[in-house]
Amino acid sequence: MEVTVNLGQRSYPVLIDQGIAGTLPAIISEKFPNRRFAVVTNTTIAGYYKSLIDLWEKNLDCSLITIPDGEQYKTIDTWKSILDFLLENRFERSSVVVALGGGVVGDIAGFAAASFLRGIPYVQVPTTLLAMVDSSIGGKTAVDHPMGKNLIGAFHQPSMTLVDTNFLATLPHREFISGYAELFKYGFIGGKDTFNFILEENEAMLKRESIPLLDGIRRSIQIKANVVSEDEFETKGLRALLNFGHTFAHSIERFFNFEQVLHGEAVIWGMLCACALGEKTGTIPQEMRSAYKNILDHLPVPALPSVPDASKLYSYMFSDKKVSSGKLRFIVPTLPGQSIVKKDINEADVLSVLSSIFKAD
Ligand SMILES: NC(=O)c1ccc[n+]([C@@H]2O[C@H](COP(=O)([O-])OP(=O)(O)OC[C@H]3O[C@@H](n4cnc5c(N)ncnc54)[C@H](O)[C@@H]3O)[C@@H](O)[C@H]2O)c1
Repeated sequence: MEVTVNLGQRSYPVLIDQGIAGTLPAIISEKFPNRRFAVVTNTTIAGYYKSLIDLWEKNLDCSLITIPDGEQYKTIDTWKSILDFLLENRFERSSVVVALGGGVVGDIAGFAAASFLRGIPYVQVPTTLLAMVDSSIGGKTAVDHPMGKNLIGAFHQPSMTLVDTNFLATLPHREFISGYAELFKYGFIGGKDTFNFILEENEAMLKRESIPLLDGIRRSIQIKANVVSEDEFETKGLRALLNFGHTFAHSIERFFNFEQVLHGEAVIWGMLCACALGEKTGTIPQEMRSAYKNILDHLPVPALPSVPDASKLYSYMFSDKKVSSGKLRFIVPTLPGQSIVKKDINEADVLSVLSSIFKAD
């Protein structure tokens, strides 16, 4: 299966299949003949996928750069260690970075590729569900700063993304659910057909049944590719739709110090809040309420460590980097599979939604 991200001369394919990672040397040597490759991965993936990496090393002129595992290492220091390696080992403008990992590896390796010698090509090989349906497409690369997440980075599109769903076999359950939140999100923005698909295949996908999951991943990638093709730099408002549930989610993550709650877990709570806000502000037509109840009933809602405080959550929303001129922006659902961006929602409505969703039993 192939999806194209259409960006003129910078267009690129997203190849999606089970077991496709074994064929990476042939695929990328054809696209980049006679090049040197630097494969960036982390310690966990290097352990699980040693034989795959050995196969790549045997069939490509490539070096392995292994970074520590975890968001806490998505830093300037780790980025610099990748650049140091590339410089010390005399990689050149013609060289290619391959990012093998989840969103952390993809973002940091992508940023290294964006900045090394003013930018060299890179290929994304996502190994988490979140990276497959979200971070490996769209060209956002970044590292974190003590002041906040993803504050230093660049838009730099990959030359290719290779999605092999076999990687999901080793993904821990919480990480799977976290990525699934992003896949589920496309049900709110990807049109009625996707909305219905997610309702029908939710349980099968949660059981990691390969055919529906592959289909769900392909559909998600297609939607993300369409949005990125239309609004690469998030200037037309379309790409903002991908942040459905995220204004709430970011404040939940911040409430728990970015430590106890995974991003996608917060997104699930954020989607519940976004739907409640839609209902509160009347963007969900009365007759659609039951369709929405149906989809919300299918959300795999994770437990939170404690009940977050509504007013604190609200205040944290203003430190989100997507706040513009001090105005909060919410994505709220309208018809099944459709959502809109709203900037004029008042504080009382948001607080009321937060208090109704987050209450002690
Ligand atoms: N660039 C973008 O557009 C974009 C979009 C969304 C999120 N992000 C970023 O993505 C990051 C989160 O990504 P993530 O959820 O993939 O987390 P992650 O990269 O930290 O991976 C989660 C965990 O799973 C492990 N792992 C990865 N693949 C595995 C596999 N196949 N088997 C077993 N373990 C595996 C990792 O080592 C890690 O411990 C955040 O930094 C976020 O800011 C970027």
